[in-house]
Amino acid sequence: SWTPDAFVDLTVAELKEKIGDDKVVLGLSGGVDSTVAAVLLHKAIGKNLYCIFVNNGLLRKNEFQDVLDQYEHMGLNVKGVDASARFLDALAGESDPERKRKIIGNAFIEVFDDEAHLVKDVKWLAQGTIYPDVIESVSATGGPSATIKSHHNVGGLPDFMKLKVVEPLRMLFKDEVRRVGKSMAIGDERLGRHPFPGPGLAIRILGDITPEKVSILQEVDHIFIQGLRDWGLYDKVWQAGAMLLPVNSVGVMGDERTYEKCVALRAVESTDGMTADWVNLPYEFLQKTSNDIINKVPGVNRVVYDISSKPPATIEWE
Ligand code: XMP
Repeated sequence: SWTPDAFVDLTVAELKEKIGDDKVVLGLSGGVDSTVAAVLLHKAIGKNLYCIFVNNGLLRKNEFQDVLDQYEHMGLNVKGVDASARFLDALAGESDPERKRKIIGNAFIEVFDDEAHLVKDVKWLAQGTIYPDVIESVSATGGPSATIKSHHNVGGLPDFMKLKVVEPLRMLFKDEVRRVGKSMAIGDERLGRHPFPGPGLAIRILGDITPEKVSILQEVDHIFIQGLRDWGLYDKVWQAGAMLLPVNSVGVMGDERTYEKCVALRAVESTDGMTADWVNLPYEFLQKTSNDIINKVPGVNRVVYDISSKPPATIEWE
């Protein structure tokens, strides 16, 4: 029967055999799949695995540095690339959700391609693809490959796409990936992390994105997520986050009338993200969180809680 330990032993042996002394590049996202794939490859080929972790400027507060530190602590050969300005410049003035996704996807490809070029004689591209991704890419009409094509339809594929591909997790389901990660002693701060979308906070800022809006939302999100942890609620929720709404509303502060931003908090229960129910968070928690946000985050004067299930309301607001 399948066990994570046996999977690790077998896969590491296979990877050694397959890759030999070649160099491999891998993009880390901070998520479970890319992390587990990286640790497996690292066991097999050590420093010949070149990991690239890109800051797109749309990550959670402190996430880039914290996660980079964790990766280094795991012994991975990882390069952190802060490309925030490049992503935010490319996004300036864009409000359409799908175009935002496309801009971010394209910017990532460009940054990753530049970085992959710096690894001399690299032969392989490793990816954290898992079995459900394999199924999805067979049936999908869009997805990452569509983004790649639309961007590179003039000059052909980016160079890293011409590399040989290695996907050590492509036969595994998510729970198996977690078990493999656990058996390699990857910590809970990676394995137990809520899902977080690739486009990050960009699809939680409704309308156009500015650096100021990103930093407001980072603060709000941080108070909410840290609160969930402090109250022992984080692991009871499948995914949670805050949305910055494109409306201002009237408030009062002392004798002053304010006209400031509204944020929506969302926390859902789900198994795979396809359907989801909003979570019945304790009123006391919501009360404390709302007060903290309004008192601590300048520019926000109203907090609402999203009580919509999927379908029809998607988890993200964009
Ligand atoms: P929705 O909003 O469609 O989200 O109910 C379902 C799950 O998918 C995530 N999501 C994304 N992940 N790129 C990603 O990598 C995206 O463009 C994207 N859009 C949504 C969402 O966070 C949830 O976990």
